[in-house]
Amino acid sequence: MVINSKSSLQETLEIAKNEGKTIGLVPTMGALHEGHLSLINFAYSHCDIVVVSIFVNPTQFNNSSDLEKYPRNVIKDAEFLKAHNEKTIVFTPEVEDIYDDKVEAESFEFGNFVNHMEGEFRTGHFDGVGSVLKRLFDIIKPHKAFFGEKDYQQLRVVKKLVEITEQDVDIIGCPTSRNEFGLAQSSRNFRLSEAELKEAELIYEALMKAKHMFGKNSIESIENEVEQMFKSNPHFDLEYFSIVKENDLIPTKTKDSNYNYRAFIAAFLGEVRLIDNMALN
Ligand code: PAF
Repeated sequence: MVINSKSSLQETLEIAKNEGKTIGLVPTMGALHEGHLSLINFAYSHCDIVVVSIFVNPTQFNNSSDLEKYPRNVIKDAEFLKAHNEKTIVFTPEVEDIYDDKVEAESFEFGNFVNHMEGEFRTGHFDGVGSVLKRLFDIIKPHKAFFGEKDYQQLRVVKKLVEITEQDVDIIGCPTSRNEFGLAQSSRNFRLSEAELKEAELIYEALMKAKHMFGKNSIESIENEVEQMFKSNPHFDLEYFSIVKENDLIPTKTKDSNYNYRAFIAAFLGEVRLIDNMALN
């Protein structure tokens, strides 16, 4: 079922909530793929009703051409969901349903979580993500909301967001969905040619390399190795490779066996910016 009006969605959900049903939200920007399906299936294992929002959020793009080129096809998305899961409610708001007449990001105190990696390279991005999610949570009032670990930094920022805004929603992280060669599923993959899709596997290879090296090698030598892998591929432009402690998401050069570590990559393949990450220990 596709609903584009805020009030009809709220009426439908109110009835379900009064019947004691739990509501799950999978927020998306459309261009749905297997990764979204795995989030939706995960959501169904926790909730009776799953709402998938499709909204390309203008306030989280720091680059207008990235926003322009973001793949959009709501009809195809609705068909994709119909084929896989007919009972899902698809919510497709307009910009004014979310932002009224002020299309601007709010500013949040996310602290350390946004000082590095995506926060550093995409100024204001997480304020945009926080702004849209705060509004979606207010409209839908889901019991739980589901986010992929592919955007691990986003997942942590969203947990912080509900702490700051005191919104009553459980944020659940779901494992990254990958194709058979390890490439993380992403809407941006739709912009890659067949040849580029093959090239993109380098990101997973680099993360696996980092994971294998982590037990015995210094962080500096892992970074050198990964940077070398990208330098030897002329199609890629590595934006960052960072190893961080999971608790604070601050890049580090030292290892301490009491902590969990994660490696993060952002790289351009041609014009398409891809990100991924992996737990190292
Ligand atoms: O991960 C995304 O697709 C977006 O950042 C989200 C969570 C839907 C907010 O616009």
